[in-house]
Amino acid sequence: MRIVWGPAYELGILVIDQQHKRIVDYINDLDRLVDQPDAQLGVARVLYDLVDYTESHFSFEEALMERAGYKSLDDHHHKHRQFTFHIESLLRRNDEGEVVAQELLRLLERWLLHHILEEDGAYADEVRDFINSIGRERLGGWVNDNLRKHFRVV
Ligand SMILES: [Fe+2]
Repeated sequence: MRIVWGPAYELGILVIDQQHKRIVDYINDLDRLVDQPDAQLGVARVLYDLVDYTESHFSFEEALMERAGYKSLDDHHHKHRQFTFHIESLLRRNDEGEVVAQELLRLLERWLLHHILEEDGAYADEVRDFINSIGRERLGGWVNDNLRKHFRVV
């Protein structure tokens, strides 16, 4: 099922919204590829890019929460870790020759959308207030440094 990105998914934190949208684009790419015959190679590539990007996003997001002094960071980190653990076990099964793309796709759709709406939604107010209090311009340098630090490809 194709996910249509819209304001309902936005947290009002531009750099995070852009990353979430990119993850949704990856999920939609995977969704498009997964039912096509002979798509195994394309599926595998998108799958690896998506997992890599999602893990980079998690560490960037956690760094931003830490910078903002978000109190429930430990909890949030734990949720990211559980999810990463789950998708990495699916990737291992994929490497062993099992066809897991559908299962992974359903997991991503279900988990990520829930996570963006619920758990990320829970930090949004606090992080937004923090950004407003120090000013977007002052955060700009931090954002650029941390994009370079956490992402292989920005
Ligand atoms: Fe998150």
